[in-house]
Amino acid sequence: MGRYLVTAGLPYSNGRLHVGHIAGCYLPADIWVRYLRLRGEEVRYVCGSDDHGVAIMLTATKEGKTPAEVAHFYNQQHQLDFKGLSIDFDVYGSTSASKFHRTASQHFFLSMLEKGLFEKRTTRQFFDEARKMFLPDRFVKGDCGFCGAVEQNGDQCESCGKLLDVDSLKNVRSTLGSEDATVPGTAGVVTVRETVHWFLDLSRFQPQVEDWLQQAQLRDSTRVYVKSLVNNGLVTRSMTRDIEWGIPLPIDDPDAKGKVLYVWFDAPIGYISNTMELMEREQASEKAEGACGEYEQWWKSKDSKIFHFIGEDNTIFHCLIWVAMLSAEGTFSLPSGVIVNQFLNIQFPDKDVEKISKSRGSAVWIGDYLQEGGDPDILRYYLTSIAPEKARTVYKPEDLIQKNNADLANVLGNFINRVLSFNQKYVGAIVPDYDPKKCDVVDHNFVNELKRTFIEATEALDNISPKHALQILMDFARSCNKYIDDKKPWSTRKTDMELTKVTLYHGIRAIYFLTITLSPFMPNKTKLVAQMLDIDLAQCNWNSAIDEFPVGKKLGEPVILFQKI
Ligand code: MF3
Ligand code: ZN
Repeated sequence: MGRYLVTAGLPYSNGRLHVGHIAGCYLPADIWVRYLRLRGEEVRYVCGSDDHGVAIMLTATKEGKTPAEVAHFYNQQHQLDFKGLSIDFDVYGSTSASKFHRTASQHFFLSMLEKGLFEKRTTRQFFDEARKMFLPDRFVKGDCGFCGAVEQNGDQCESCGKLLDVDSLKNVRSTLGSEDATVPGTAGVVTVRETVHWFLDLSRFQPQVEDWLQQAQLRDSTRVYVKSLVNNGLVTRSMTRDIEWGIPLPIDDPDAKGKVLYVWFDAPIGYISNTMELMEREQASEKAEGACGEYEQWWKSKDSKIFHFIGEDNTIFHCLIWVAMLSAEGTFSLPSGVIVNQFLNIQFPDKDVEKISKSRGSAVWIGDYLQEGGDPDILRYYLTSIAPEKARTVYKPEDLIQKNNADLANVLGNFINRVLSFNQKYVGAIVPDYDPKKCDVVDHNFVNELKRTFIEATEALDNISPKHALQILMDFARSCNKYIDDKKPWSTRKTDMELTKVTLYHGIRAIYFLTITLSPFMPNKTKLVAQMLDIDLAQCNWNSAIDEFPVGKKLGEPVILFQKI
């Protein structure tokens, strides 16, 4: 048995969640966590909001609120969305409201400072002459100096993924707009001024990053991308900012006044501080017994494996900067894996494929989906079936309906329904007691296919490809329908009821198999099937999926599982 700490990228608490966020990391991580739990592993699934940084400050300005109010509002909103989709974190913290986060981040910074790993230097930074403030990160927009993509945020190019700064961002303009100039003639003027910051030389950690790249569980494309970044040479980056909202620099230095930690310095430490919060809560409720009740047992022990699930734009921060930070600090474990998904694009009927974008209004919001009565498991199914695991993929609203009707209603639901209602009608509410001598080659092949499916789906999930695992399981569901079509229980019933019982038994056994194996993907629908089988899913484990289902066992009432939309 192993111990797994699974995290999903902490979302910025400055806007609603859309399908791209969910497909990017929260859903795949949730599926994997549910799978690990079925395997009997000890798992904690940790998330929370990323409250600091310029993105939240901008939203606050726009909405006429304080950053703390904005962060709190969206933190709550996100929790409702996640709950509505059955994405079940063990803890959902907040980097601004946590009682652990500030100290944890400051300690992290100080222990690196004590090792002499920061270099304090004077640097150049964009400056808003009208407002008399520095404009780091998303306070400016401009063109990417690496790939030429226009209208990029000041911190990172969405197109090539590279980090941007005063030297690599071109045609800069302030995102605060050009109104309210207090000094006449300065409206919209962005200049460059000098300021002091604490820099981390990432190239010092090149050997550690390279070692880690060899061992870590990563998708091939991630390994190749990060390797190419490393080969191009790691640079020195400022870990502090001239803004008010964030974790104050914990040092007594006049130059540190008014400065905070860079949001990408404190955010990943949120994984640690949220674990601290979880452990405190578990200890209070006496849930955690023994050694696992301490956060160190998750973050500093060799027996614990840490997996980060993230979207593609977070790759540099997790695979380079975070690995370098952890290596620098020295007491925490490096992640065993970083699982990166690509972006999900969107295509509305009769329109072109586009990027999901809040400002252009091209998004499907989770809140809207749930409010309109959308079923969580249908969205989970669809998003997993199109998961952008290797490349960007496209969400199409009418595709979701089509997949519901074709895969869920016609294949899975139809199979379960026809077997269980037929059995109810001709055998009764029990698993038929069949005669094994009556099994023919079709039945044997069917059981073999079930076992092969199990091995392949297990392998896909061990490789952290929920999409592939789901494909394998749904292919089996198609075989299940074919099995029933071939065996024709409706006609054997009239000639030899013993043959019908053989078929129904195998059908029910396959339903049992699919209930367990599909439960990480569709936890609500499979719970319904479990009721029809009169079993408790909480008592099942992954390996028991291939067990024979007990003959003579009582069954529940069949109900329709999926409606066509
Ligand atoms: N808030 C970031 C984003 O949405 C992700 C932060 S992940 C963490 O892109 F590691 F920093 F927490
Ligand atoms: Zn670029």
